[in-house]
Amino acid sequence: MCGIVGYIGDKNAQNFLISGLKRLEYRGYDSAGIVTLDDSGKATLLRAKGKIANLEEKLAKAKREDHIGIGHTRWATHGEPSETNAHPHQAGPIYVVHNGIIENYKELKAELTDFEFKSETDSEVLAALINSFYQDGKYPLANAVVQALKLVKGTYGIAVVSELAPEEMVVARSGSPLVIGVGHDETLVASDASALLGHTKRAIYLNDGEVAVIGKNSVEIKTLNAEPVSAKVEEIETNLAAIQKGGYDHFLLKEIMEQPESLKETLRGRVNAEEGTVHLGGPGLSEAELRKIRHLVIVGCGTAYHAGLLASYYIERFTPEVTVEVVIASEYRYRSAYIPEDSVALIVSQSGETADTLACLREIKKQGVRTVGIVNAIGSTIAREVDGGTYVHVGPEISVASTKAFTSQVIAMVMFGLTIAQAKGVKSAVLGPYVKEIAALPEAIRMVLDVVPKEVQKIAKKYAKYEHAIYLGRDTAYPTAMEGALKLKEVSYVDANAYAFGELKHGPLALVDDRFFEMVLLPAGVLYDKAVSNIQEVLARGGHVVVVTNADGFDLPVESVIRLGGEIEIFAPLLMNLVSQLFAYYVTVAKGLNVDQPRNLAKSVTVE
Ligand code: F6R
Repeated sequence: MCGIVGYIGDKNAQNFLISGLKRLEYRGYDSAGIVTLDDSGKATLLRAKGKIANLEEKLAKAKREDHIGIGHTRWATHGEPSETNAHPHQAGPIYVVHNGIIENYKELKAELTDFEFKSETDSEVLAALINSFYQDGKYPLANAVVQALKLVKGTYGIAVVSELAPEEMVVARSGSPLVIGVGHDETLVASDASALLGHTKRAIYLNDGEVAVIGKNSVEIKTLNAEPVSAKVEEIETNLAAIQKGGYDHFLLKEIMEQPESLKETLRGRVNAEEGTVHLGGPGLSEAELRKIRHLVIVGCGTAYHAGLLASYYIERFTPEVTVEVVIASEYRYRSAYIPEDSVALIVSQSGETADTLACLREIKKQGVRTVGIVNAIGSTIAREVDGGTYVHVGPEISVASTKAFTSQVIAMVMFGLTIAQAKGVKSAVLGPYVKEIAALPEAIRMVLDVVPKEVQKIAKKYAKYEHAIYLGRDTAYPTAMEGALKLKEVSYVDANAYAFGELKHGPLALVDDRFFEMVLLPAGVLYDKAVSNIQEVLARGGHVVVVTNADGFDLPVESVIRLGGEIEIFAPLLMNLVSQLFAYYVTVAKGLNVDQPRNLAKSVTVE
């Protein structure tokens, strides 16, 4: 959600800022801007509404050989996307880029009576506030930033430069990520390490409440209370190939197709198919602690929440005496929920930065409950704040719609459930089939992805004209249907909603008419016959039914059927979800929409 970059060094700052912003564009893409300073401090500020490409057009007429600068790509919170509301924001000699939300910006603004505000943003207030403490360079920049931040309520990742000090940059974070890249005669800044790749692999991840003063060869970190912090330089694990399209038209398709490999990474070293056991070291729970668990709370947003729901169906099947509760982070953080003793909370997040999920983690920790992260982004805030965790290791997800993370989140959580069940002495006759299928899943996914895309594309073209869709499933196919509907609506803007199939006649059946099509996920096995009866009910009302099934015997006269073969039974919904992902992709392509950057959205929701 919004991207920040910064550069100070021997090379051309504009070049890094633009290339860095392009890498971060998936985080926010309604306006962008950069400012660079020459050696005398003279600033060149460029801002544009819309994509980075618009900013590049302006840059073509304003090339500079400056060596310091900051940049930002925006996802609007306060004020519409416009050039005036785009960052960097200026106040006197100060320029600021900001991610996050300043919650008390109205109160602060009311105090800054001398300043003439130009934008509607909360971020400009921050620039004005810093400038009020800076007093035209009377005080060091870092002091002014610290004074200002002490008055701020909310979240921020910021980078600040001053025309009066073109040899330094000040950065700080609270609730919004900020990474400092340590290079040779250059120091780089970004809100996401992917912007640093190709420049350096050495990174310092700033913690909440820390402020850093950066020079081309120096990084000095302190807390807001002026206590020195010794910087820990870490290796960035991602490589350049992982953040490029690699021959695909869109990241979304690339990431769907990567799932055989990404799931293998999730399983690596954790599954012993022969013995029928799993081993997760990360959660850091002893056998005795695992045996004591009576309750799991799974916390997430959007796709991560759906992954939790689906995993809960599996976990409660084989983990005795354990209740599983799956909650939406933005709701849970404000509820007065009692978490029973002997609980563990699973905190699920691809980015590891989602504000609501992070807030839940902190609330839950306050209650003394053990937290375990199911996170993808290495070194992210959630990954660092949980008591233990299992990285899903799917590599960077660039497309805004989450795909490969979902599959691996489900399996990582099921493996955590299996770990508990193993400790509780559940027989391998019960657990073995789960482990066996988990081990076989990457190959099964590969087979589906080898075969179905063409067929799904054909069907997607046929249904791309519909503005409404109903996704239906029972048991494990229900949360899978929820995820399928989310995927379709977020990228293709089709009004898609999921219902538990058994709920249909309690209301939603009234919707069935020619404006809608019904996407049914129909795994063989649990509740198959009941779901088939439900399909009959829809057909009897003239529904336009598409069925995705692995059941050989399915022969109802529905409009379209996508058949999946193979041996996978327990986790068949995960294979059906591949079809949903591809379906959403191809509908979006057929409609000519922006696949990777759907309107109004951004990857990594770091604001509430
Ligand atoms: C949907 C999607 C979102 C995210 C949600 C949580 O495709 O991407 O619903 O799943 O914003 O994000 P993370 O997992 O980063 O916490």
